[in-house]
Amino acid sequence: MLRFLNAGESHGQALTVIVDGYPSNVEIDINKINQELARRQKGYGRGGRMQIEKDTAEILSGVRFGITLGSPITVMIKNRDWENWTEIMSPTGEPTDKRQIVEPRPGHADLVGGIKYGFYDLRNILERASARETTTRVAVGALCKILLEDIGIKIGSYVVSIGEKTIKMEEYESLSLEERFNNAENSEIRLAVNGKDEEFKEYIDLMKREGESLGGVFEVYATGVPVGLGSYTQWDTRLDGKIAQAIMSIQAIKGVEIGEGFSLAGKVGSQAHDEIFYDRERGFYRKTNRAGGLEGGMTNGEPIVVRAAMKPIPTLMRQKSLQSVNVITKEPFMAAKERSDITAVPAAAVVAESMLAFVLAREILEKFGNDNWIQIKERIYSYRDYVKGY
Ligand SMILES: Cc1cc2nc3c(=O)[nH]c(=O)nc-3n(C[C@H](O)[C@H](O)[C@H](O)COP(=O)(O)O)c2cc1C
Repeated sequence: MLRFLNAGESHGQALTVIVDGYPSNVEIDINKINQELARRQKGYGRGGRMQIEKDTAEILSGVRFGITLGSPITVMIKNRDWENWTEIMSPTGEPTDKRQIVEPRPGHADLVGGIKYGFYDLRNILERASARETTTRVAVGALCKILLEDIGIKIGSYVVSIGEKTIKMEEYESLSLEERFNNAENSEIRLAVNGKDEEFKEYIDLMKREGESLGGVFEVYATGVPVGLGSYTQWDTRLDGKIAQAIMSIQAIKGVEIGEGFSLAGKVGSQAHDEIFYDRERGFYRKTNRAGGLEGGMTNGEPIVVRAAMKPIPTLMRQKSLQSVNVITKEPFMAAKERSDITAVPAAAVVAESMLAFVLAREILEKFGNDNWIQIKERIYSYRDYVKGY
């Protein structure tokens, strides 16, 4: 089974990830991984850290002369800022009080993590709870996208709202998923439509001046997905559940919908489902995609479309600080920082692409085998023929 395990603290020496179960004979272009890492670092409203860190991947195992061996792949991404943190984050030696944190921030793992793992220096918590870890998820996503693209599966994302600023469904529903994605790639906020960046940037600037932070909503999709990934036979084989878990596991994601999701609840049945059609050339198909490509926990051949809601960044500026309590003195204080992301919705969308790519690559390998990619691909092609002729 395809799986990954990542490690690393936000200000530690490096982030690492081991990807196990990745097939042999896949051509790996490291530039593809670095391009994806760069996409995660973009987005209007990010804080200073993204300027310090230009993430680059190093492959330490599992790839030889640009070809995967079928053995575990290790990817390392160094933290460029490490030189300023060697003493504070040292794995050896005496503890230091420098940059100790005893003031938990509401909306973060700080307080509960401190109680649970038994620390009063909350740096021990936030270093790992931080979304810096998602860098390695994006590296894994890049490896998975290489597999998926080779069999015609494309993954993309776009943002549809930041805080109160929303792009209405009427404004983008006539655009294809690819058009929305292309617009997003040319937008500093990954917006699904052209020509709205300035309006959104002004709003983000205004909220920044007020000391606020913002969340938002994005959509992530996959096209070219074969019919029948996932299964209805057990609760934990249902692909809609696996996708929801993977996206929900991203820091600050608080809602996930598949297809029309929550709005389906308000519709009558005759308006809620996707009628079935048949054409000799195309086989079975749908004219609508309210189900977001998933029925009965399985892919139905239509694009997978997932919508996710991100809460506002919990770190706030001085003007809008939130009450909290010092874990040592038990005195109240007002939690705030000088510098943080105002919003990271565009970056979260890129992370969500990676998680969707991982889940789909895992399903593909589960269904078609996971040793030699050349043979796996042949099985996929012949399965596609079978589906067409069904
Ligand atoms: C890409 C990305 C960047 C983030 N950047 C920040 C940040 O700069 N400051 C911050 O306080 N939270 C940031 N967050 C959110 C926190 O990591 C998250 O809210 C926190 O770890 C608590 O987890 P929870 O919101 O899932 O409960 C970011 C999240 C993502 C996905």
